[in-house]
Amino acid sequence: MDRVCVITIKFRPMLASAWVEDHEVYAAIGEDGFERLIAAFYRQVPGDDILGPLYPQGDFAGAEQRLRNFLIYRFGGPQHYIEERGHPRLRMRHAPFPVNQAARDRWMQLMTKAVNEVTLPAEVRAILIEYFESTATAMMNRL
Ligand code: HEM
Repeated sequence: MDRVCVITIKFRPMLASAWVEDHEVYAAIGEDGFERLIAAFYRQVPGDDILGPLYPQGDFAGAEQRLRNFLIYRFGGPQHYIEERGHPRLRMRHAPFPVNQAARDRWMQLMTKAVNEVTLPAEVRAILIEYFESTATAMMNRL
């Protein structure tokens, strides 16, 4: 059987100050940083004409907690998300929600606003935006 070797090389622009790796983001901004970021994001979601209707109404607080815990786990913090929800399988979990280009772009727009609104180190902002851009694209499941 053919064996396939996949090598992933990540390029990230060299920033003037310290280099922060994904798994160090939690150490850099702590629980509080993620709390402020995701609160700033979810403050905008219920009233949004595209995203608001997509989310289970009446459980925005739960959705906020799930996204916050997921990001904390993904960026080097405690694994509460895994303990509570199991393997992330994000694409599968998004399958019930129609995520088209417009929804993806709006999600990104609101998240970028949140990232810029809360005070975070520049390196952390860059890592998060890069991660959100690609993950949001991966969540698309409709034309
Ligand atoms: C691109 C546009 C996106 C839309 C429209 C969208 C929409 C949704 C909706 C409607 C839910 C269900 C709310 C709930 O948890 O009860 C959800 C859950 C979730 N989303 Fe997204 N999402 C998007 C992108 C993303 C991205 C980029 C991430 C990660 C960075 C993400 C992470 C999550 C997580 C962790 C959950 C909870 C999954 C679970 O444990 O059940 N989503 N999303």
